[in-house]
This record gives sequence, C-alpha cells and structure tokens, in this order.
Amino acid sequence: APTPPVTLVIFGATGDLTRRLLVPAIINLTQSGMVGDDLHILGIGIDAGDDAMLVDHLDSFLAGMDDGGAHQKSDGWQRLKKRIAYISGDFTKDDIFLQIAERLKASQSGNAAFYFAVPPQFFGPLVDKLAEHGLTKESDGCFRRIAIEKPFGTDLASARALNAEILSRVAESQVYRLDHFLGKETVQNILTARFANMMIESLWNNNYIDHVQITAAETVDVGMRGKFYDATGALRDMVPNHLFQLLAMIAMEAPNDFGAEAIRSEKSKALSALRIYTPEEAETHAVRGAYTGGTLNGNPITAFRDSKDVSPDSDTETFVALKLYVDTWRWAGVPFYLRTGKAMTARDTEIVVTFRQVPFAQFRETDIKRSLPPNRMVIQVQPDEGLSVELSIKSPGLSVDTVPVSLDFRYADMFDIGKMTGYESLLYDLFIGDQTLFQRADGIEAGWAAVQPFLDVWASGAKRPDPYAPGSMGPACADDLIQQDGRQWHALGVLTHNHKK
Ligand code: BG6
Repeated sequence: APTPPVTLVIFGATGDLTRRLLVPAIINLTQSGMVGDDLHILGIGIDAGDDAMLVDHLDSFLAGMDDGGAHQKSDGWQRLKKRIAYISGDFTKDDIFLQIAERLKASQSGNAAFYFAVPPQFFGPLVDKLAEHGLTKESDGCFRRIAIEKPFGTDLASARALNAEILSRVAESQVYRLDHFLGKETVQNILTARFANMMIESLWNNNYIDHVQITAAETVDVGMRGKFYDATGALRDMVPNHLFQLLAMIAMEAPNDFGAEAIRSEKSKALSALRIYTPEEAETHAVRGAYTGGTLNGNPITAFRDSKDVSPDSDTETFVALKLYVDTWRWAGVPFYLRTGKAMTARDTEIVVTFRQVPFAQFRETDIKRSLPPNRMVIQVQPDEGLSVELSIKSPGLSVDTVPVSLDFRYADMFDIGKMTGYESLLYDLFIGDQTLFQRADGIEAGWAAVQPFLDVWASGAKRPDPYAPGSMGPACADDLIQQDGRQWHALGVLTHNHKK
C-alpha cells in the first residue's frame, strides 16, 4: 500500500548521503508507486540557497551518477522534484525550527519524519531542539518520527548516554535507528531462509553446526574518509552494527510473530547473549591489522598511516577478526568468527555456516573421512546475492570417491533487484511506521557491551595492528586465530566450486 502523506525533513540535505542514497531511493519508491505525490521533502542545510538550489544540486548529482543518469531521467524524479523545499541555516539555532514548525503546520497532514543525515555530534542536540520547539509531539493523530544514521555512539557509555538523551524527549516508538545492512535483500532473507524452511531450521543448532563465519571484506581503502576512519576503526565502523545485525539474525530464536517488537526482542536477546570477555580473553579473541602501501587490482594503494587526515603513528585498525560466543542452549560451544577489513582481495559480504563432520564414514577408502569436507551453507550478502549449500556426492566411476558440489541460488538469475539502493525498504518502513528493520535501544547497547572489552584493551596501548598487504585476506594473525582451532577461513570472492574438470 502507498505511504500516508508525510514531510520528510532531512537535516544534511546537501550532503553525500542525501544525494547518493536517500533521494535515489525515494525516486525508486515514487516510480514504483509505493510513495505518492503527497510525500514532500524539506531539506535543511548550512549551504546558502533556496528550493531551486537544492533541486539543481540534486539534479546535477543524479545526472552524473554511474547509472548513466537513469534516476535523473526518470519520471519519478520529474514528479518528486516539484515537491522539494529547502531552508538554509544553522541547526544549532532556533530560527530554523520556527520555520520548520510553520511549514509543518501548513502541510496537509502534519506527519513528519526527521532524518538526521548529519555527523553524530548533532544527533542529541537535534532531538533536543525539535522537542523544545514542540515538533516531536504527535498531536491530532499525526506522527512525528526520528531517523538516525550510524554511528550510534562510539562505545557503550556514549551509546547509553545518547539513548537516554533521545528517550527523555521522544518515545522508543518514534525512533528509527538505521543500519543500512538491514535494507539489503539478502539480509532480510536470512529470517525467511531459516523460518520458512524445515530443512534449514531443524539443523540450526550446536548438534549440527560446527561454527559460523561472518565476513564483510571490502576492496575500497579509506580514501577521503581518513579523519572519520582514524577516529573510528574497523571494529566500531562495522562490528557492533552491521556484523552484529547479521549475527543476530543467524543466532536469534524464532519470534512469536513477524511484527517489529517480537523480532527485535529476539534479536536483542541473541545479542545480549554474546559473551562479555575479560581483558585477558579480549586480548586472545581478537586480532587487528592496518593495510600497508601496495597495489590492488592494478591500482596503487597508499598505506593507511600515510593516508590523508590519518596520523602517521595511528594505531587504528582497518581490519579486525574476532572469535565470539553466543551463550545460549542453541549455540553453546559454537564459535562465531567475524572479520571485516578495507583494501582486501575481494568485495565479499557473506555468512558461512559450517556443519559438523559426519560421525562415521563407511566408505571403502580408509582415509576418506579425513578428506570429506563438511557441509556448508553460504549466504552471500553481496556482491552476488544468493545462497549456496555445499554437499558431497559420489564422483562417477567404479571406485567410491566423493566430490564436493554446490547447490546455488543467485538472486540475479531470478529477480531484477539491480537498481535498488537498499534504502527503499528502510524509507518505506519509516513512512508507514514499521520498526522491524530498525535497531531498538537495548539491541544497540547489547552490541556495544560485547565489543567494549576489545576497545578497552586496545586503548590501554596493547598490541598495535599488524600490517597486511592490500589485496590480501588480512594479516597472518587472522589466520592463526581460526587455524589454532583447526579451522580455516572461507576463501573470499569464491562463489562456487561447480565446474567440469
Ligand atoms: C558503512 C561504513 O556503514 O558501511 C563503511 O561506514 C563501509 O566504512 C560501508 O564501507 C559498507 O557498506 P556496504 O553496503 O557497501 O557493504
């Protein structure tokens, strides 16, 4: 069903997020009829200008996008651009909020979603100002919602403080904390794969699963984001948010229903079961790396520590690998290995669930059990979205030899999901008021609580990140982390092993 009438008030309207993701997603929604002509955008920004300035700014950005300007040429954009307004000013001052109040009063429904596409130091002050000006009050049946991008806090204490500040002003039901991974089709599919398939869910526990790997490998380096990244690092940037969202969906119990509260409660429960390590454990269950200079796919890569806006003696990590436990009956004893890094050999976000070996292999060759690979399920989140199951079969011939084969499903073979930004479902849900794909306060805090011990030992000046070459799988210590348990990382960028020899 199309969305109700709403004004999307974007703080940071001339910023990168707005033009690269939010506006293209709204164009796609407009194009498909999922949002109607009663959606209005009210952009707020520090840049001088009027409504026409913002429209022109977006128009020329869209025209230069690597989709050949398809969004800019679309009918959706022609319709949407008539409904874009702009207020220029400083959003730490009151004037802007008085103007927003007037516009909303004049709007058809009074419904508003305030989107914070701004640096995180503004999140708290913005909620305060909106509340002081009465803009967060849901009177006369209209809704007032707040959408907050990451990073949500920089550690457990700051995340708690930010939640407390926000929730002193608005109700949890008004808060939409974004994690853009939740907008990805394959991520949403994890719950369907698990709970719509008897074959999968009935094996989904420590009787049958040996371990889980969650990887988000990127080929990009920090590029122009040195300032942000040096202060953040791979752990904060990716783990308590994106990777933990994947982990929660893999580890959670079945929700009572598919509503937002039931799903978010189960996810929070799973995250709060993550083992909180002692400082000694934190040291032995995490490794870090920073990439050196080199080349990647033929392109020169500047060492992280030599990058723009990065301190030359930075001890920020651009790669991290962790070994975690979810302390529940279902997952007792099953390690979750997580890794993420920049400037790696392939772009590959995937979840690999490795099943236990068969207890007994009654084949003629005596050593066959040793060469029998365990079954694996690979959920490929990106770039080539899909799901594979790896099995052993008998290779044709007179002797009993087994070969691994893979049953593969690729989204691209069946569906056309290519042009989506991943923000469509998030924005649509923000407008209709479905919080399923947004993080609740307790889930965010549970995530930070589990990574806090790592932040603490690193801050105490323990080991610096190990070097790794661009285009590699990360530092050697990451291999040690998993190999000392007799296991191997799943090869990056390898989709399937089905081919004729
Ligand atoms: C962002 C991080 O949240 O996610 C980036 O800040 C990272 O550093 C990005 O590159 C990865 O997202 P995606 O959708 O490209 O996998």
